[in-house]
Amino acid sequence: MSQFRIAPSLLSADFARLGEEVRNVIAAGADIIHFDVMDNHYVPNLTIGPLVCEAIRPHTTAPIDVHLMVTPVDALAASFAKAGADIITFHPEASHHIDRTLGLIKDAGCKAGLVLNPATSLSHLDHVMDKLDMILLMSVNPGFGGQKFIPQTLDKVRAVRLRIDEYTAKHGGEIWLEVDGGVKVDNIAEIAAAGADTFVAGSAIYGQPDYKAVIDAMRAELAK
Ligand code: DX5
Ligand code: ZN
Repeated sequence: MSQFRIAPSLLSADFARLGEEVRNVIAAGADIIHFDVMDNHYVPNLTIGPLVCEAIRPHTTAPIDVHLMVTPVDALAASFAKAGADIITFHPEASHHIDRTLGLIKDAGCKAGLVLNPATSLSHLDHVMDKLDMILLMSVNPGFGGQKFIPQTLDKVRAVRLRIDEYTAKHGGEIWLEVDGGVKVDNIAEIAAAGADTFVAGSAIYGQPDYKAVIDAMRAELAK
């Protein structure tokens, strides 16, 4: 695995062939499966739950990165840990007790992370850096694939990169910085230059017939 991780979002995959879509994208060179969970409550869309996570689990050994766009969070986070998730992230405003939810995810044996929407303040990170394995910055408003990258996200990526580097220099450990929404071949280099190391891409990968060609093109951009 290179220092950069590519995480195709299953949201844009063919839901009638999910196992195959997982295998194909990993065979094409992806590192992680990004699994978008929407509840028609926190976001105005409805997708897939723990049963689907359990069903795709045997199709890959790659990490499954569950992005919870749900409220309440805790019970579903526990169900996803049982269903084979490796990483579970949630939106801080969707949980009444952020520290408790992060602890619950970690106690269940998963990596834990917070997701910040384009207009959500970085202050949510203040008192929980020690519990974070990942920070996910949304570069679109959550709820749908295929939206346009919001360029102001780049400043936020730079600010979070500084925070992560300062924190890990002092305390050790590793915190991944993932960006989600509107990531394409033509902007991935700029997002990486701002400090992201993990890239979610839904429509950019699953919207093309040749997944390997897209992932290779993304890696070529990242190597520049
Ligand atoms: C949006 C989801 C994203 C989405 C990204 O709420 O969290 O993961 O699938 O899709 P693209 O890459 O098409 O913007
Ligand atoms: Zn997502």
